[in-house]
Amino acid sequence: MKLLRRASEAVRFSDDVRRRGLSLGFVPTMGALHAGHLSLIRRARRENHRVAVSIFVNPLQFGPTEDYSRYPRPVSRDTALCRKAGADVLLLPEPAAMYPEGFGTHVEVEGVSDTLCGSFRPGHFRGVATVVLKLFNMMRPHRAYFGEKDYQQLTILRRMSRDLNVPIEIVGCPTVREADGLALSSRNAYLAPHERAWAPRLYQALSAGAAYARTHPGDAAGGLLKTVRAGIDTIPGARPDYVALVDAASLEPAKRLRGELRLLAAVRIGKTRLIDNIPVICKDKARSR
Ligand code: PAF
Repeated sequence: MKLLRRASEAVRFSDDVRRRGLSLGFVPTMGALHAGHLSLIRRARRENHRVAVSIFVNPLQFGPTEDYSRYPRPVSRDTALCRKAGADVLLLPEPAAMYPEGFGTHVEVEGVSDTLCGSFRPGHFRGVATVVLKLFNMMRPHRAYFGEKDYQQLTILRRMSRDLNVPIEIVGCPTVREADGLALSSRNAYLAPHERAWAPRLYQALSAGAAYARTHPGDAAGGLLKTVRAGIDTIPGARPDYVALVDAASLEPAKRLRGELRLLAAVRIGKTRLIDNIPVICKDKARSR
């Protein structure tokens, strides 16, 4: 596996892959890799001739009081994991090269960025969309792989690609979970042991919501949301940022248990903010009887 540090090296690699008529899959990450990232790399490996991974802890997507400086950066461990999972190249750009003096162009994906996590992390998705478009322009892949764990991010990147005619297929991949249901996240490492023991209740609460939808097709969304909030309330000291049921494509709030919906929540446990989401597919009332 080759290490690339400059945009010009990434462009040269991509040009070479394309000249040979091969396909390139790309997995952008911020490192601190876990089994969720490795599942993206392995999927890219299965679906493309060549695979590129990037690791860049993007300062633009962290708020002033967030964890940019303490975000884990285990570079040699991550490099070994990428190699083992089958990456051909690993792009490790320097912050100063990504954002040189005078950098002033940003990507704003209106609407879908403004709700859910966007309301609690102003500027976060602008930072994500900006860095992802930059990485796309450096790596020029055919396909790019993102986890459904960050469902709003995935929706925003799909919208950005559609709106700006980005010629890259955005592939969403299922969330990878611990045996007890907790969604894998680099931030799980911040949880104290007792918080880690409570954390799976978030997924249990969302699952209870999805089960509610199966038995109450067509009902108003309020009953489901109440069920999920009651589950989250069993986590000692949990502070939900939001619990929301939305249309799976537009992220508009769902009023009724109808159609293809997504149930999402962000909850603070101690100093750690966890997010998770699951699909809620509602059968119509007539057919469910
Ligand atoms: O999901 C992430 O790890 C990051 O938001 C991404 C997409 C790599 C952009 O920095």
